[in-house]
Amino acid sequence: MTTPTATASRPLLEVRDLHVTYRQGGQAVPAVRGVDFTLAPGDTLGVAGESGCGKSTMALSLLRLHGDAAKVTGEVLFDGENLLTTSWSKLRAVRWAGASVVFQGAMSALNPVRTVLDQIVEPMVLHDRVGPKEAERRATELLDSVGIPARRIRSYPHEFSGGQRQRVMIAMALACRPDLIIADEPTTALDVMVQAQILELLGELVRESRIAVIMITHDLSLLAHTCDRLAVMYAGRIVELGPSRQVLKDPQHPYTRSLSQAFPTIGDPASRRAPAGLPGDPPRPGENDQGCAFAPRCPEAEESCRSGELLLWPTGPGRSAACRHVPPQHGGTS
Ligand SMILES: Nc1ncnc2c1ncn2[C@@H]1O[C@H](COP(=O)(O)OP(=O)(O)OP(=O)(O)O)[C@@H](O)[C@H]1O
Ligand SMILES: [Mg+2]
Repeated sequence: MTTPTATASRPLLEVRDLHVTYRQGGQAVPAVRGVDFTLAPGDTLGVAGESGCGKSTMALSLLRLHGDAAKVTGEVLFDGENLLTTSWSKLRAVRWAGASVVFQGAMSALNPVRTVLDQIVEPMVLHDRVGPKEAERRATELLDSVGIPARRIRSYPHEFSGGQRQRVMIAMALACRPDLIIADEPTTALDVMVQAQILELLGELVRESRIAVIMITHDLSLLAHTCDRLAVMYAGRIVELGPSRQVLKDPQHPYTRSLSQAFPTIGDPASRRAPAGLPGDPPRPGENDQGCAFAPRCPEAEESCRSGELLLWPTGPGRSAACRHVPPQHGGTS
């Protein structure tokens, strides 16, 4: 957007008690179970957690990009407007100019028969009402900022490497100068060096333009380098939230501790589902919905962890955790 849409007194994004339940074969699959967080303009939030813990479902539902099979409740206030109930026309405007999404697998998101220049120019002309010449100038500048030289801008997606295509996707996400970018594993398909370079690049670009980011990856340490705050999800809930470095160096929730010690094995897709050093599996949605969902795998669990309701409570300045063993403290946030 050309003007900042959020004022200093109002957060850019407020997510309140978000629940997403899929219907599958007559069964309810509660994939997101009460997520709350707030983003100020320019905030960067990393979201981590094992496969199946609800990261993508949470991210997709913010812009109502989940399929018809999902029921969503709660509130997603974007610049004060509830995106879960707003009209389709307002939502469409937000999707293009207010918040944009970068997914993994750029090849399927890019149109194979159009040049990258054409694809970046289109949203600017349609939604930002920019003339074609000015749009081309901006697109060339954007592609240059992600490391695609001007002589390549009339190339087609298949003429680029996987890493270059992800860079093109990032340029497209930035095209209408959004206030928020949601990036769901934008680099997972790439090798580790390219991943780090691209996430660093995205971090620089958003810092310069004060764009807020929600970034999802499996790699906690990559996230901590790129994002100011980290949210760790388990079984559809945020179990820990706080400044990235503190969460990584001094995790409060036993799940975050396990996750920070478990490393995905590079090139082995199975390690995404079962990180080395973290035995057992997360529950399937709907299982262990009493007490703490991590209790069956937690080395510190006691009988009392397996019942009652567990909330994300303040545990220090800017920090919160959902664990009975971490005493509540004033000054935490969600
Ligand atoms: N369209 C769907 N219909 C039914 N269940 C679904 C659907 N999409 C996701 N789920 C279920 O919801 C849960 C959360 O899935 P989600 O894709 O959000 O997890 P994730 O944390 O993004 O995992 P990954 O790290 O593998 O991408 C999983 O149990 C998944 O099987
Ligand atoms: Mg996902």
